[in-house]
Amino acid sequence: MLTVKEILKGGHVGEDVEIRGWIFRTRTVGGKIFVVVRDGTGVIQTAITKGGVPENEFADAEKALIESSVVVRGKVTEDKRAPGGCELRVVDFKVEQFAEKFPIQQDLSEEFLLDVRHLWIRSQRMAAIFRVRHTVFGAVHEYFRERGYFEAHPPMITPAGSEGGSTLFELEYFGRKAYLTQSWQLYAEALVESLGKIYYVGPSFRAEKSRTTRHLTEYWHCEMEEAWAGMEDVIKHAEGVISQACQRATKENADELRSLGVDSADIAQVKAPFKHITYTEALKILEKAGMSLEWGQDLRTLEERELTKDTKVPIVVTHYPKVSQAFYKAKDPKNPDVVLAFDVIAPVVGELVGGSERERDIKVLEQSLRDQGEDLGRYQWYLDTRRYGSVQHSGFGMGMERLIQFICRLEHIRDAIPFPRTPARFAP
Ligand code: 4AD
Ligand code: MG
Repeated sequence: MLTVKEILKGGHVGEDVEIRGWIFRTRTVGGKIFVVVRDGTGVIQTAITKGGVPENEFADAEKALIESSVVVRGKVTEDKRAPGGCELRVVDFKVEQFAEKFPIQQDLSEEFLLDVRHLWIRSQRMAAIFRVRHTVFGAVHEYFRERGYFEAHPPMITPAGSEGGSTLFELEYFGRKAYLTQSWQLYAEALVESLGKIYYVGPSFRAEKSRTTRHLTEYWHCEMEEAWAGMEDVIKHAEGVISQACQRATKENADELRSLGVDSADIAQVKAPFKHITYTEALKILEKAGMSLEWGQDLRTLEERELTKDTKVPIVVTHYPKVSQAFYKAKDPKNPDVVLAFDVIAPVVGELVGGSERERDIKVLEQSLRDQGEDLGRYQWYLDTRRYGSVQHSGFGMGMERLIQFICRLEHIRDAIPFPRTPARFAP
């Protein structure tokens, strides 16, 4: 048994091989049946002739509809006209199961394709994206593990949020209120005092009401936290992990990127370090472009797009205004109006990473929580991290689907994940 990818890689011409997969397309020309078969790795053409296979198998090949599952044996033959440069001359064609008429034919609406997402994920486009996704997840784990970070896991069900109340998903927990996690943030700040350097890749939940092309309500979050580290230290790792994922994808997914219409050279350019500017400098650049923002206002998609319009490589924006930032971000000792926080902004997707150094002063934290109208009682366990051996520490969070959206140049973030969750739907 070989995979399609292994056969197409070359070196098997003349060999008898067996593949297992699903019928992608069928065409009959001059009494020959050409069945294109896909497995999880790619597609290959198989050619079935009368007399080349038992009669009943020829009849089966004639009547099997697309997406029927098949086991095919044949000789690998060079054929310049076939996709991939070779085809299988079939000697044995077994239909495992005859598929009913597949509901997805040509030119269907986005909405319909979302209704039949469980079938649409079989498409070449979706499978290509998922293979890139596989590479990106592997690269992230590899990056942190190679550098001695421990993988540590936060709870998904939590008593309080870290990123503000407006995007919390509420849960009825045996008669009490609980919330789905928005970020591992608070738990990470406790766990670094156990393990020192940690990372995690897992789901986060945001009750984002707005429909945009870069928000999901359930997304995979890569987060890291490090003790004895400041903002600049962790920015290096944000740049490093993004670069590693991009380099891996260009190396391991050249075929996928080509099929998605992505120029690999654009992705290969993504190498640390990136360009750094402060929030205040960003406002000056925007002003020159005729987009004046008042100091203190958030950068929106519009502004993020302007800042990255002439580059293929993400940029880092640092030193955001203290106003409207999460309570745990550390004030800059050189300028109390800004916090030691940064975002990595990428072309196509905008904000890819958000991170900061964490405030150490328990009084400042308590005041910020009070200012946000939070119940201090629910944060006492968190404040213990500042009572027992607190040290300087920093970390960041990166949306994995945003990174995949960036690498695959996807118009909509929902295609970066097999079963997207958005305000409008949570099925299938
Ligand atoms: O900027 P955010 O909200 O930061 C945090 O959650 C921090 N506690 C992370 C940390 O320091 N450990 O979210 C981090 C990243 C964003 O930059 C974005 O890439 C992604 O998470 N993200 C989303 N991705 C998809 N859909 C959404 N609704 C997202 N919200 C945030
Ligand atoms: Mg953010």
